[in-house]
Amino acid sequence: MSAIRPAAVVVLAAGEGTRMKSATPKVLHEICGRSLVGHVLAASRELEPENLVVVVGHAREQVSGHLHAIDPRVRTAVQDRQNGTGHAVRMALEELGGAVDGTVVVVCGDTPLLSAETLKDLAATHQADGNAVTVLTAEVPDATGYGRIVRDEATGAVTTIVEHKDATETQRAIREINSGVFAFDGQLLADAIGKLRTDNSQGEEYLTDVLGILREAGHRVGASVAADHREIAGINNRVQLAEARRILNDRLLERAMLAGVTIVDPATTWVDVTVTFEQDAVVHPGTQLTGATHIGEGAEVGPNTRLNDTRVGAQARVDNTVSDNARIGAQASVGPFAYLRPGTRLGPKAKIGTYVETKNAAIGEGTKVPHLSYVGDATIGDHTNIGAASVFVNYDGESKHHTTVGSHCKTGSDNMFVAPVTIGDGAYTAAGSVITKDVPPGSLAVARGQQRNIEGWVARKRPGSAAAKAAEAVSRPGSSDD
Ligand code: UD1
Ligand code: CA
Repeated sequence: MSAIRPAAVVVLAAGEGTRMKSATPKVLHEICGRSLVGHVLAASRELEPENLVVVVGHAREQVSGHLHAIDPRVRTAVQDRQNGTGHAVRMALEELGGAVDGTVVVVCGDTPLLSAETLKDLAATHQADGNAVTVLTAEVPDATGYGRIVRDEATGAVTTIVEHKDATETQRAIREINSGVFAFDGQLLADAIGKLRTDNSQGEEYLTDVLGILREAGHRVGASVAADHREIAGINNRVQLAEARRILNDRLLERAMLAGVTIVDPATTWVDVTVTFEQDAVVHPGTQLTGATHIGEGAEVGPNTRLNDTRVGAQARVDNTVSDNARIGAQASVGPFAYLRPGTRLGPKAKIGTYVETKNAAIGEGTKVPHLSYVGDATIGDHTNIGAASVFVNYDGESKHHTTVGSHCKTGSDNMFVAPVTIGDGAYTAAGSVITKDVPPGSLAVARGQQRNIEGWVARKRPGSAAAKAAEAVSRPGSSDD
């Protein structure tokens, strides 16, 4: 269906969402890396409307701030008191300067699963049928709480929408519900919205009443049934929030799998909408991928791994790792039990091993930091080996300093590199060294106390102890039979 750009999309987000029982406004709760209203905005933007207006009310500074941060072009309309969905749309039209020519699409800010395709189909049907209003409906297993779609028995045409609280027993048996999503003719909407009354159980201006008003005035009223009722689910509490997250996550994983990604255990793999994969990537159980994380071709991540804003190169291996804002080169190996912090850049075939933490560190091709180390504020060249249990001492209590290690270096175990310090190419350092001065290329640095053995100390100072007996036994072999 060819969609014509709507004149406006109106997103209703003024409600408090009391049932969330939260200090955070309902529409700012997140699933898969986006707020609820962020998902609705993203789908709405795909319609390329001339205007996008969000109606805000409850916690409006916080909600507006968030909206402008994620979409600087968005307009907001303020609804001071939540007098109903019809009143909210009236506020949006006022913000737009009154009636608009063309199609106005209205969506709720708490329906994050609504797809752009469904919205486009609704707008296209609306325009093709020349309707005054087209409502998106769905058949649901449990219609409790929703507005019911009442149809003419003879023609099947929609006559009205009755809110659950205002419905008769017979009407409550109807399982076709109002999704809260509409396409309107802008001019007719403006006319009808001025005629809304509040003589209903909630004493509010119901947007749904616009439908009956337009029909009685002789205009065409249509309905479009959503293919998947789960798409239109509104989030009212945290149980529904978790259900929606599960559904969206499954959708994202399914898309990845169909594109050639192996997800070993979809039940324990969680991804944001912004995560991308190349073909033949493999994700092991217990893995959470967030933000702008990208998994390269044939790379394997997990199990038990959390990667945020992290790029994993082709064929890399990342096992039991937490990483934030890092780049991992092709064929590099990370973990098990590694922590990559912001600014970590691993070259191709680099290795970060077990119990290693890195931060603001550029680590060259084929370079290894295999065991129990901290590498902070450092540049390390190619094909260098950092000995076990080394610490890049980057902090003097006031500021951070940088350490540079060259290529083809071999640093000993248990080294401290006290920054700022530079180790030249091809240099070695001895185990247990505290490196405080630059090491010229090709030299060996030894920076530790000399060993001193005080013979007979145990016999003199700890006579009769087990240690003394053990020492005595080896100093007089065969004497134990005496
Ligand atoms: C509404 C519909 C109902 C539909 C259901 C779908 C009406 C009268 N009822 O009911 O037919 O089945 O959605 O989920 O339209 N809002 C405002 N200002 C207000 C009131 C609400 O901005 O004054 C916003 C809310 O923030 C929310 C949306 O409108 O995003 C829907 O409001 P809500 O109170 O959840 O309506 P329902 O009772 O669920
Ligand atoms: Ca609702």
